[in-house]
Amino acid sequence: MSETVRKAAITGHPVAHSRSPLVHGYWLKKHNISGSYGRVDVPPEGAEDFYRNFARYGLNGANVTVPHKEVAAAACEWLDEAARAMVAVNTLWLDETGRLCGANTDGLGFLGNLDQLAPGWDVSRESAVVLGAGGAARAVVWALLSRKFTTVHIVNRTFEKAAALVEEFGSGTKAHSWDKLGTVLGEAQLLVNTTALGMTGKAPLEIDLAPLPDTALVTDIVYAPLETDLLKQAANRGHQTVDGLGMLLHQAVPGFERWFGVRPEVDDALRSLVLEDL
Ligand code: ATR
Repeated sequence: MSETVRKAAITGHPVAHSRSPLVHGYWLKKHNISGSYGRVDVPPEGAEDFYRNFARYGLNGANVTVPHKEVAAAACEWLDEAARAMVAVNTLWLDETGRLCGANTDGLGFLGNLDQLAPGWDVSRESAVVLGAGGAARAVVWALLSRKFTTVHIVNRTFEKAAALVEEFGSGTKAHSWDKLGTVLGEAQLLVNTTALGMTGKAPLEIDLAPLPDTALVTDIVYAPLETDLLKQAANRGHQTVDGLGMLLHQAVPGFERWFGVRPEVDDALRSLVLEDL
């Protein structure tokens, strides 16, 4: 009897540079699973139709990347708690009855990375500082609130965007403009950069870490370069640091498990493989 070949793909626009096929391809091979993981470029004008009629496209599941995370969420008949909170999905599957289901695993990816590389990082959780107020910040704020941080300070160049996130998440979050950074850093146990600053080809993130308590953990969701100027400065000051590559890898875990039935590990060989591709 022939085994059913299960199929998944990264969907979005563009998808040519996505590293998801590399990650899932590594796990498929490692676990000797006869499945496939490809790329489907979904042009914006066809996105609503694609996700509404997902079952017709021969896929068992998919990841969703920009700019379709919200359109795909709207097409789902069931959403997990994170996707409901963020009104955006990055992981899709069809259930036994053919319903399109969606999850947002970006926040879980953020947590999985810290849990793996800095065990016990959330023991002190009175105050965290999140730089930025875009889609990535939304996932990180959701994740920190799910771990019961008392206060998540959202610091953004455009104050209104930080205030909009606070409006969304409510108690436990506070919005600040960039000039208040020094004050909020002084009480933080965790600093997270979710802006694109520091990424190869972007402006550097210029920030004075002097007010940050010595015991605070510093993490960046930027992973190219792996060691950003923020992480270098933090390490030089004696802070524990965690780079952003693991968030990319850990957010892929729940989808793979859902589609192919095995919970994969983020191991050193996978990290090296993706690093070589950066
Ligand atoms: P993502 O979905 O990856 O989070 P985004 O929604 O474009 O991307 O958000 C980018 C974040 O980086 C925003 O918080 C943005 O600040 P603004 O809301 O003020 O635009 C921040 N950012 C980008 N360039 C910046 C810069 N030069 N200085 C400060 N913040 C910057």
